[in-house]
Amino acid sequence: MNGASPGWPVHAPGLTPWVWLWPQAASEQAGTVDAIFIALLVFCGALFLLVLGLLVVFSIRYRRGSKAKRGDLPEVLRRDIEIGWYAVITFLAIFMFGWAGATQLALDAPPPGALEIHVVAKQWMWKVEHPNGAREINELHIPRGEPVRLVMTSQDVIHSFFVPAFRRKQDVVPGRFTETWFTPTEEGEFHLLCAEFCGTAHSRMGGRVVVMAPEAYAAWVAAQPQGDTLAREGERLFAAYGCSGCHAPASAVHAPRLAGLYGRPVQLSDGRVARADDAYLRDSILQPRRDVVAGYQPIMPSFGGLIEEGELQRIIAYIRSLRPEEAR
Ligand code: CUA
Repeated sequence: MNGASPGWPVHAPGLTPWVWLWPQAASEQAGTVDAIFIALLVFCGALFLLVLGLLVVFSIRYRRGSKAKRGDLPEVLRRDIEIGWYAVITFLAIFMFGWAGATQLALDAPPPGALEIHVVAKQWMWKVEHPNGAREINELHIPRGEPVRLVMTSQDVIHSFFVPAFRRKQDVVPGRFTETWFTPTEEGEFHLLCAEFCGTAHSRMGGRVVVMAPEAYAAWVAAQPQGDTLAREGERLFAAYGCSGCHAPASAVHAPRLAGLYGRPVQLSDGRVARADDAYLRDSILQPRRDVVAGYQPIMPSFGGLIEEGELQRIIAYIRSLRPEEAR
């Protein structure tokens, strides 16, 4: 619909002004977020009306010249009301905190096997790469009913990936990977926004998420002109940057083997144990002396400033693709 332009505003079918106040709920996660929002709204609304009501009642009752009694309330009544009021408010606040916090934590862990899509944000566009190498800009095609996990990073400043209909928002930060995930439940087109002020064209850094039937998505993704997959390109970069010189099994250099490494715990030389996830691999490439693997010398040079974000993603995808049985 809007191709490579930072298409904003995007007009989804059936978009009405009401949508701006309450976007359609189109993910499995949206229900719980809405429930918390409504509970907070009701709680704050009730409090607002109570305070406003008392303000009006007391203004009239104790206006100048009225005959209302102005002495103190009995001591015990004053104390009981005060204690009860604070107890109720404290309980409600803790309840809201616990509810929202637990929901957020539960929503942070993607289910295993989620469809993994890579996103690079830059001023002022979203670049998307599918597992098979299909690419798009300012659009994200995904299948309905399947958990989708986004691994995101930024080339320049902090952006924020925001799809109101999914009730998901996640900062996208240069120099690290952040993740979000969701399970879309409705087919259609939904706004994709940047929710972090990131420069003059921040308001135009948007696009659309297209949720398709699973078969339609499979057909769409197969029909895209594909670059090589991330892992294949990563393999080339792995050789081009000289990584294979030390990390190949045949190498004479004593360097950690990478096959089957991804996701496993790694014993470090200072006694800590790290998990070999995306962030760990990324840090190990950019700051190799920070987390030295037990039994190895800190001889690897830093690749900070040499490797671009997109290349890092590819190299990590390659390392992740190495199965233990593949002796590389
Ligand atoms: Cu990117 Cu605002």
